[in-house]
Amino acid sequence: MDRYLIARIPTVAPSVLTLGLLALILSYGPHTVAATGSTYLVSRQSNGTALSPHFTAISDYVDSITDDLSSINTEIHSNPELGYEEVKAHELLTSFMEEQEGWNVTRSVGNISTAFMAVFEGSGEGPIVGFNAEYDALPELGHACGHNLIATASLGGALAAADVMRKENLAGKIILFGTPAEESLGGKVKMLEAGIFNDAKIDISLISHPTSSGDSPYMITTSTDRVDVEYYGREAHAAAGPWEGINAQDGLLLANSAISYMRQQLRPSDRVHGFISSAGSRINVISAKASGSYQIRANDETQLSNLTQRVENCFKAGALATGAELNFTIRPYGYANHVTNDLLAASYATFFEELGGELEPSEIDKMKDPSGSTDQGNLSHEWPSISPYFQIFNEDGSVPSSGPHTAAFEVAAGSKPAFEKSLVVAKSLAGVAVDVLTVDGLLEQIKEEFEKTKTPSLRRRSLSRNA
Ligand SMILES: *[C@@H]1O[C@H](CO)[C@@H](O)[C@H](O)[C@H]1NC(C)=O
Ligand SMILES: *[C@@H]1O[C@H](CO)[C@@H](O)[C@H](O)[C@H]1NC(C)=O
Ligand SMILES: *[C@@H]1O[C@H](CO)[C@@H](O)[C@H](O)[C@H]1NC(C)=O
Ligand SMILES: *[C@@H]1O[C@H](CO)[C@@H](O)[C@H](O)[C@H]1NC(C)=O
Ligand SMILES: *[C@@H]1O[C@H](CO)[C@@H](O)[C@H](O)[C@H]1NC(C)=O
Ligand SMILES: *[C@@H]1O[C@H](CO)[C@@H](O)[C@H](O)[C@H]1NC(C)=O
Repeated sequence: MDRYLIARIPTVAPSVLTLGLLALILSYGPHTVAATGSTYLVSRQSNGTALSPHFTAISDYVDSITDDLSSINTEIHSNPELGYEEVKAHELLTSFMEEQEGWNVTRSVGNISTAFMAVFEGSGEGPIVGFNAEYDALPELGHACGHNLIATASLGGALAAADVMRKENLAGKIILFGTPAEESLGGKVKMLEAGIFNDAKIDISLISHPTSSGDSPYMITTSTDRVDVEYYGREAHAAAGPWEGINAQDGLLLANSAISYMRQQLRPSDRVHGFISSAGSRINVISAKASGSYQIRANDETQLSNLTQRVENCFKAGALATGAELNFTIRPYGYANHVTNDLLAASYATFFEELGGELEPSEIDKMKDPSGSTDQGNLSHEWPSISPYFQIFNEDGSVPSSGPHTAAFEVAAGSKPAFEKSLVVAKSLAGVAVDVLTVDGLLEQIKEEFEKTKTPSLRRRSLSRNA
């Protein structure tokens, strides 16, 4: 399996960058190896974190349930269901968990039909570890975001951690949450608002995500808002009396242009993208209604709030210029950026590297630009969280030719090597849970770091306003 666990960095001519990297590598101590040729870095992000005595038990347990995990993984991948419609996946996962000894399953938790919660109670009060399983697919693209693998990694991880609890008579709880509708619909944010994670009193939240690029315990994502806009104008004969009309389409086109001009003044990680969904239907009638949807992304909630305001101003400009009325609606369930807890990441790295995984130094991982957005972001502002990226491969071991949300990635997400990689992640996530349950003082340190790195969270509800 080693061949797809190697994080490759392309060879580059000596430059300030390479010298900088070299300095980093050299300063990194005895664990670091810089290979020649197609250079890759073997780091020990786990430096200082001792390997758990439960490592072998975890690994063996996951291996022992490979057949069950494999059939669940395949079943979800080959039956893609959209957000909040994941009826088969919900049935499959809950009925499987109901068969597991010691697990108490609540279907449709919080009255969210395709959400669930499965609890394994240890021998008494102790740390409560949450694992999140995703299982929604994308319209027309199937499991092109590989959520089947996320479900598999969290399922395997939760079961393995519970097995260690059972055998070692450990205190605490493992909870597997079935979190539907990650794609645009914010299942976890809805569950957060419904108080499901709070009521369960979780201490940490664990999940993972497949990717076509390298492995990393650090997921860096943007905060995001999604908006719907409608312009209302007035119909008029486009030739006989256009001056009597108010052109809704022009209002929206002006706004779209204003956003395009604004892009030059955006930060490199800011994104504004969207589409016009309707703008009229008859060529000889001034358009009385136009509508579109846009998504806005920025580094964190403060920058997002500012950028969303700037985008709203662009839409207001279109309304002002044309006289059309604007209905600007921020959809519910915006996503906050994901913040990774360093200590959880280091624990993950210890297991992942022991299993043959190779990671770049955390200093490099942490400098990467954000990509995409996830509803796990909101949870990461409430509890210490990790969502490691894991690279997946095609059946023949090649890297998928394109990343998530593409047809090529959907194919890779159903491959055997991708499933095997999700088992490595399951073991590593289980390792994190067991570390939190067994290492004296670790949870306190994790919470201390969490409090120190906490940023103000700006709670903005969905809102609709006319201008
Ligand atoms: C299972 O969970 C439900 C709801 O959380 C609770 O009411 C019930 O007592 C639990 N059952 C057991 C056996 O723990
Ligand atoms: C749960 O949802 C159903 C259907 O959406 C609704 O009829 C019912 O009142 C809800 N129950 C609770 C307790 O909110
Ligand atoms: C966004 O932030 C910039 C820089 O801090 C500030 O000048 C500007 O007024 C803000 N814009 C809005 C619409 O809040
Ligand atoms: C404004 O748009 C929202 C979302 O598209 C819609 O639900 C609402 O009814 C609209 N309001 C008006 C006054 O048309
Ligand atoms: C989730 O994050 C978004 C974006 O920052 C924010 O608008 C929303 O209020 C948050 N929701 C919750 C329940 O935390
Ligand atoms: C690894 O060691 C370095 C130097 O002692 C330290 O600064 C860094 O925080 C450690 N990294 C982790 C992930 O523990």
